[in-house]
Amino acid sequence: PRFDIGLDTRALMARLDLFAGLDTAHLDSIAKLLKPRFAPPRELIVRKGDRGDAAFFIASGAAGVDLPQGRVMLGTGDVFGEMALITGEPRQADVRAQTYSRLLVLRRADFQNLMRANPDLRAKFNAIAASRRQANQSA
Ligand code: CMP
Repeated sequence: PRFDIGLDTRALMARLDLFAGLDTAHLDSIAKLLKPRFAPPRELIVRKGDRGDAAFFIASGAAGVDLPQGRVMLGTGDVFGEMALITGEPRQADVRAQTYSRLLVLRRADFQNLMRANPDLRAKFNAIAASRRQANQSA
């Protein structure tokens, strides 16, 4: 069976606050870049130390970020994997699916084009990455 049949990326995007406020034309063009992916529980999605090749949006389910200070849980609407794409540094942590999770995957080059083309979105991603970096540094 295929899990993506009948599921509309645009409908899943409505769960992502990051994209709230964008007009239809922008949403449609971003939707074309997002690739649906289904992750079963415990699947390693991002490996610490790897080069970042994509960012991930959680359309449903949950993912755990394994940090020295413990596991940070992310859920529907959250993004992860943005830090390596923004900073060029290796992945900061393992990220593992905690439940059956539906992800939308944005490849590195597409993420960077989107950041360049959309200052509002760029500011949001930068703010998320900065606050995570700060949390990890002060931990
Ligand atoms: P990246 O470093 O590319 O890969 C691991 C990801 O885990 C990272 O991007 C962030 O998306 C996420 N992450 C790292 N630290 C935190 C944190 N303190 N809280 C939430 N997510 C985090």
